[in-house]
Amino acid sequence: MADHSLSVTDASCSQNPVLTSHYVIRPMQPEDLDEVCAIESSVSPSPWTAPQFAQSLQQAYSLVIDTQVRGYAVVASMADQAELHNIAIHPDFQGQGFGRRLVEYSIEQLSGMIKNLYLEVRVSNIPAIRLYQQLGFEQLAERRDYYQTLHGREDALIMGRQIDAVKD
Ligand SMILES: CC(C)(COP(=O)(O)OP(=O)(O)OC[C@H]1O[C@@H](n2cnc3c(N)ncnc32)[C@H](O)[C@@H]1OP(=O)(O)O)[C@@H](O)C(=O)NCCC(=O)NCCS
Repeated sequence: MADHSLSVTDASCSQNPVLTSHYVIRPMQPEDLDEVCAIESSVSPSPWTAPQFAQSLQQAYSLVIDTQVRGYAVVASMADQAELHNIAIHPDFQGQGFGRRLVEYSIEQLSGMIKNLYLEVRVSNIPAIRLYQQLGFEQLAERRDYYQTLHGREDALIMGRQIDAVKD
């Protein structure tokens, strides 16, 4: 089987201990689930459960830094469409380019049949919205009161982008 993992040792910023670390993005393994769920609980207001991740392993990717899972992305594909169902970076490792790399890697792994990638995001989640905009996603629609919050409901943005142009 072909090795689709991305492995990088980035020594371009010797002052930063994370960027000098070895990291790899590879398919999520069942053994990753404890670390994945710990991150999920720390970043999500409505965390996925271990069984939810376990059912999604076919198109799920782990970002591993120095042997520890520090991020993940989950994608689902149907016919010529795909959805980014979940993505997170451990809070200690956010803001260092890993989220962008995970999305880019997830896009690279999509079948050549996929024409569009969609996602839903809370309107208040500015870091995620900026990340998606940076990667070419555009707002397509809004879903009123889509998410539960501690204080009521919150709207969702539906975002999407074409894939074929980028994979050429
Ligand atoms: C959203 C998330 C995955 C981004 O990952 P990240 O590794 O922190 O993001 P990156 O460092 O790759 O940043 C890429 C771009 O995202 C945007 N971004 C990231 N953090 C941001 C912040 N705090 N404020 C504004 N924009 C931000 C910027 O455009 C950034 O590009 P730049 O560095 O050139 O300005 C991460 O914040 C996270 O795990 N959040 C909690 C879970 C979550 O909200 N998931 C998304 C659900 S839809």
